[in-house]
Amino acid sequence: MDTIFAWVSDDSDNYKTIEKAGSIIKSGGLVAFPTETVYGLGANALDEKAVTKIFEAKGRPQDNPLIIHINYITDLQKYAYVQDDRVYKLLERFWPGPLTVVLKKRSIVPDIISAGLDTVAVRCPSHPIARALINSAGVPIAAPSANTSGRPSPTKASHVYSDLNGKIDMILDGGSCDIGVESTVLSLAAQAPVLLRPGGVTLEELEEVLGRVETDRAVFEKIDALRKVSSPGMKYRHYAPRAKVIAITGNDRAVIGYINKNLKNKTEKTGVLCYTGEEKKFKNADMVISYGKKKQPVTLTQNLFDALRAFDETDVQLIFARCPGTKGLGLAVSNRIMKAAGFERIDL
Ligand code: TXA
Ligand code: MG
Repeated sequence: MDTIFAWVSDDSDNYKTIEKAGSIIKSGGLVAFPTETVYGLGANALDEKAVTKIFEAKGRPQDNPLIIHINYITDLQKYAYVQDDRVYKLLERFWPGPLTVVLKKRSIVPDIISAGLDTVAVRCPSHPIARALINSAGVPIAAPSANTSGRPSPTKASHVYSDLNGKIDMILDGGSCDIGVESTVLSLAAQAPVLLRPGGVTLEELEEVLGRVETDRAVFEKIDALRKVSSPGMKYRHYAPRAKVIAITGNDRAVIGYINKNLKNKTEKTGVLCYTGEEKKFKNADMVISYGKKKQPVTLTQNLFDALRAFDETDVQLIFARCPGTKGLGLAVSNRIMKAAGFERIDL
C-alpha cells in the first residue's frame, strides 16, 4: 500500500489535507496523526473492520483494548455510562488534554475496541490537528500509539514512517509532540478511582480533584502475562529499544559512579541514557544520549522515546538508563523506563 505522507502546517492548505484524511477514516482506512501526547493510528471507532486493520498494521495483540478519541465532553455518554458528577468535575478540568478515562461501556462500542471487557477508554485530545481530524471524519476515532507493537511510541512523524510506512493509508506530520508520553489512563469504572497508566496529567493533579487515587500494581511491577490485569496493555514489554535496558535510580553521585564502574568492566557495547549536561561524564561508554533536564521533567517526557529509538540506530547491546523519582511527571518517565527495562532496576 502507498502511504500518503502530508506535512500539516499552519496555513490554509491544511483544510484540504485534513479533509482527505477525514474521508479516509470515514471510508474505513487508517490515518496516523499527531496528538499532544504521542502520534496515534486512527480508524473509525464504530467500524469493526477498520479497527481490525489497526491491530494488523501494528501487530498488536487482540486482547489489548483501544482508546476512543472524541472532541466534546458531551459525546462521552454516547459511548460510556457516566453515573456520577465526579467524572464531569474531573473532565472539566483536564479535557481536552492528556487524560483517558475508563468507564462502563455502552453496546454501540464494538467488542474489538474493548477487547471483550465491559469497559471503554475515552479521551478528548487538545492537539488542533487531532481535533480537526475528528471533526472532519465526523466519527469517534479509535487510536493506539502509531508504532509497531512493542516499539517506543512515536513522538515525530518520522517515527511513524519508519514503523508503518506501506501499512497504513496516510501520515499527517504535525511536528514533535508537546508531551511525548502517552495519556494518563484512569479507571472510574468502580467506586474507587485507579490509575492504570501514569501520563501527561499527574497523579497529584488527579488527587486534587478526586482525593486519594490508587495506583495499579502494574505501574511498578512486572505482570505475569497470563494473569488477568485491569489494563491489558500494561502486561506487555513496551517502549523497548533492541538493546537490553537497565533502569538506575538514586542520587547523582551514586548513579554516575555506578555506571562508570560498570563501563570499565563492560563486555558488550554499552550505552548510557543520561540527563542533559552530564554527557561528558561517561568516557567509556560506546554511546551517550541525553534526554532532557532533570529539573524540567517535561523535557524528559518530550525526548524519552526519541532517545530510546536513537539507540536502535547504534549497535549498543546494553543501556544504563538514568531514571528520575516518581513525583509529578517523573512517575510517567520512570514507568516508561521501567517497562523498557522489563522492570530490571537498580536502586542506589
Ligand atoms: O496518549 C495516548 O493515550 C495515545 C494517543 C494516540 O491518544 N494513545 C495510546 O493508546 O497510548 P495505546 O493503545 O497505545 O494505549 C492504550 C492503553 C493501553 O495500555 C490499554 O490497555 C489501555 O489504554 N486501555 C484501553 N482500553 C481500556 C479499558 N477498557 N480498560 C483498561 N485499560 C484500557
Ligand atoms: Mg501504545
